[in-house]
Amino acid sequence: MKVLVTIQAVREAVREARKQGRVVGLVPTMGALHQGHLSLVQQACRECSFVIVSIFVNPTQFGPREDFAVYPRSLSADCELLKREQVDVVFAPSVEEMYVPKADTWVEIPSLSRVWEGRFRPGHFRGVCTIVAKLFNIVQPDFAYFGWKDAQQLIIIRKMVEELNYPIVIVGCPTVREKSGLACSSRNVFLSPKERAIAPAIYQSLKIIQDMVKSKGITQAKKLILAARKFLKNYPQIKIQYLAAIELQTLRPVKKVGPGVLIVVAVKLGKVRLIDNLLLT
Ligand code: PAJ
Repeated sequence: MKVLVTIQAVREAVREARKQGRVVGLVPTMGALHQGHLSLVQQACRECSFVIVSIFVNPTQFGPREDFAVYPRSLSADCELLKREQVDVVFAPSVEEMYVPKADTWVEIPSLSRVWEGRFRPGHFRGVCTIVAKLFNIVQPDFAYFGWKDAQQLIIIRKMVEELNYPIVIVGCPTVREKSGLACSSRNVFLSPKERAIAPAIYQSLKIIQDMVKSKGITQAKKLILAARKFLKNYPQIKIQYLAAIELQTLRPVKKVGPGVLIVVAVKLGKVRLIDNLLLT
């Protein structure tokens, strides 16, 4: 496994792999790797013969009051984890390598970027699309892997790939959870032991909706959302930012739920912001 820090070195490694007829897979991450990231890496290793994992805490997707400075960074531990998988290259560039000073070229999908996560994190998806587009241009992978954990991100990236004609297959991977049901996240390390004990209620609130649909046949979104909100009221530490039933492609709220409807939730638990979602089948 090579750890590369320059764009040129990555381009050379990919060129070499292509000469050997290898299929290139890219897993973009911001590091502080956990089981969720590793499941993406493992799937990439099963489906591709040359796998690149990028580790880059991307400043342009953090708002001025967000946690860029304190976002967890653990490059050497991350590399140890990745060595155990069949990863060929870790691409861990500096901010200076990825952005020229005062870089001002952006990729943005306004219609999908201003709702839900975008409402609470203005500019976030512009930063995400821009860095992912740059990574796609640098690596030119055949396949790129993203988690359903960040469903809105996945949907936005799919639209970007379609509209900018990237010849890349976007693979969506299932959300990996702790035993408690809490979705694995790099930000979970910021939870106090007390908050950690409460955090599984977020997923439980989504399961309540799923159960009401499955066992009682309730489809009225308003009713379902209300029940989940009521459940979360038992945890006054949890402040809901949004909780909604939305259509996958358009991200618009639905009145009636059914297969293909996504339940999305974002909360603040203490100082930590957590998101989760569940796709109704
Ligand atoms: P990061 O939060 O590090 O996540 C990297 C990838 O891992 C994303 O595709 C995310 O959806 C996936 N992931 C995170 N937690 C997961 C879980 N519990 N189960 C399954 N997949 C999970 O998302 C980003 O970084 C950045 O926005 C990035 C795309 C790298 C652009 O900077």
